[in-house]
Amino acid sequence: MKVLITAGPTREPIDPVRFLTNRSSGRMGYALAEAFARREEQVLLISGPTQLDIPDHVDFIPVETAQEMYDAVAHYLPKMDAAIFCAAVADYTPVTVAAQKIKKSADTLTLELKKTPDILGSARQVIGFQGYLVGFAAETEDLEQNARTKLERKGCDMIIANNVSRAGIGFDSAENEVLIVEAAENTALPRDTKEHLAQHLADIISERWLRKHGTMS
Ligand code: C5P
Repeated sequence: MKVLITAGPTREPIDPVRFLTNRSSGRMGYALAEAFARREEQVLLISGPTQLDIPDHVDFIPVETAQEMYDAVAHYLPKMDAAIFCAAVADYTPVTVAAQKIKKSADTLTLELKKTPDILGSARQVIGFQGYLVGFAAETEDLEQNARTKLERKGCDMIIANNVSRAGIGFDSAENEVLIVEAAENTALPRDTKEHLAQHLADIISERWLRKHGTMS
C-alpha cells in the first residue's frame, strides 16, 4: 500500500523574518509514518517545519506554507492508495508578504489575511482522489457530531477526532486519546502515547483499506 501523510504546522510568511504558525509538534503524523513504514508500506511524508527526526524508510518532502503543502499533495496524491491528513494547516495566510522587514512605527498594525486552500477538502472534489481518505478533527465540543459532519462534507472514509480542550492530550503533547468516526461505526481509542496510538491506527487503516479494495498493491 502507498500511503501519503501530511504532518506538522505550516508557516505563513508576513515579511522576510516573521511568520504565522501554530503549536502542532508533528508528532502524531511522524508516528503514523513510522508505524506504516514498520508494516513495510511505502510512505510519503509531506511535512511542515518540526523538530522531529525523519523516520527511517520514509520518503520525505519538506514544505513551509499551506500552498506548498497543497501543491505537493496535489502532485503525489493520484498515485497513492491511502492518504492521512494529519497536518495542522494554517486556515489563513497574509494577503501580501512584505518584501522588507516591517518597521515598528504606528501603535497598531493590521494584517490582512486570506483563506488557504483546504487540502483535505480538495482531495476528492478537486484532485479526484479515489483511495482511502483519512482526516483529523481537533474539536473543543460536540466531538462526534462535528467529526461526522466533516466525514460527510469532505468525502472521507475515516475521521480521527480528538478533544483539544483537555489538558495533556492532542496539540503539542506526547499523548492523545481519539475517537475514530466512520460511516457505520465509532471506535474510541483510550489515552496512550502517540506512538502506540499510531501503531493501532495503522493496523485499523490497513485492515479497512484491504476490506474496501480487496488486495494490496
Ligand atoms: O476543517 P478542519 O480544518 O477542522 O479539518 C481538519 C482536517 O483537515 C485535518 O485532517 C487537516 O489536516 C485538514 N486540513 C487540510 N487543509 C487545510 C485545513 C485542514 O488538509 N487548509
